[in-house]
Amino acid sequence: MAAIATEKAIMRVLDGEAVWPPPVWIMRQAGRYLPEYLATRAEAGSFTTLCYTPGFATEVTLQPIRRYGFDGSILFSDILVVPDALGAEFRLDAGEGPRLRPTTDRAGLDRLASALPLERLEPVLQAVRLIRARLPAETTLLGFCGAPWTVAAYMIAGRGTPDQGPAREAAQSDPGFMAALIDLLVESSIVYLSAQLEAGADAVQIFESHAGSLSPDRLGPLSLEPIGRIIAGVTARRPGAKVIVFPRGQGERLAEYAALGAAGIGIDQETDLSAAITTLPAAVASQGNLDPTLLVQGGKALDEGVDRVLEAVRGRPHIFNLGHGITKETPVENVARLLKRIRES
Ligand code: CP3
Repeated sequence: MAAIATEKAIMRVLDGEAVWPPPVWIMRQAGRYLPEYLATRAEAGSFTTLCYTPGFATEVTLQPIRRYGFDGSILFSDILVVPDALGAEFRLDAGEGPRLRPTTDRAGLDRLASALPLERLEPVLQAVRLIRARLPAETTLLGFCGAPWTVAAYMIAGRGTPDQGPAREAAQSDPGFMAALIDLLVESSIVYLSAQLEAGADAVQIFESHAGSLSPDRLGPLSLEPIGRIIAGVTARRPGAKVIVFPRGQGERLAEYAALGAAGIGIDQETDLSAAITTLPAAVASQGNLDPTLLVQGGKALDEGVDRVLEAVRGRPHIFNLGHGITKETPVENVARLLKRIRES
């Protein structure tokens, strides 16, 4: 038993084992629902200072682990540090969403670095080393990046857009530019994820948060193929590396993402979990699906939601998580209730 206690449950699930009860982490588990996060963010002054100061990034990454003892810890950072390192000037001002200097054409692309200057992300890698050194041995450390399409959508518009219209238009009107931007992000992501694994991340997640806006004919070239190239590139550099892919809004096509070599597939709350898992190979871990609003609601509604997920995934490798990030309105005690419900199952 002692030996088992020190093994990382999430890594066992990513190896295809149906660990019970399923291990759990939550997307955006370090964030604005936690008073200690708000205090550290105020001390840092800006979101980017929080991301780029290893001490601060380490502190906020560890806060939800201290409070709840999740099985997984996700590096505190953002998908937009990659375009920032390339020269697109990421900032997040109070009350507004993220902003970048828009990259709308070849000339804009030429103003960016032609390959990821990894030294600009050294503070993030330093945070990974510090976090790994301070995490309990049984806690899995997850690194991450955004998928090329999702990151490109922010880079082209310079901000979040409801349906990624500017990026979809660019793909239509200037396919050469779009392909070159995607290529740059594929290569950058391979270098960045490999460096996170080298620094101590146990596994990595690729966030394709905006997969849902792609039409079926665009999904291959703009989402599936680029993610497949990232997984191939990372596993060539780090044999055996485990990659989780979260193609939000593409619940009908999860098997195609799994076929790219993913060890785990994130499932959003719009997708029918029972139906979706029948499409996945038995050894590919499923992850997620609980509606984040249930965590805001709490009580019986939350318990029933948790039970529905558990019932659907019993006997298969599953990592408990939400269908998207935890919202800032979530009462902290509901997260404790969620963990208790899962762990007593
Ligand atoms: O999950 C974690 O706890 C790790 C940290 C993390 C953040 N962003 C911290 C963050 C991760 C994994 C991300 C990923 C991310 N960032 C995605 C993909 C996942 C998703 O949510 O779909 C995207 C699309 C982004 C881009 C981004 N960064 C947005 C849209 C925002 C604004 C969010 C908002 O509601 O205002 C950010 C800022 C951001 N990244 C915050 C956090 C905790 C809020 C920062 C704050 O104001 O303190």
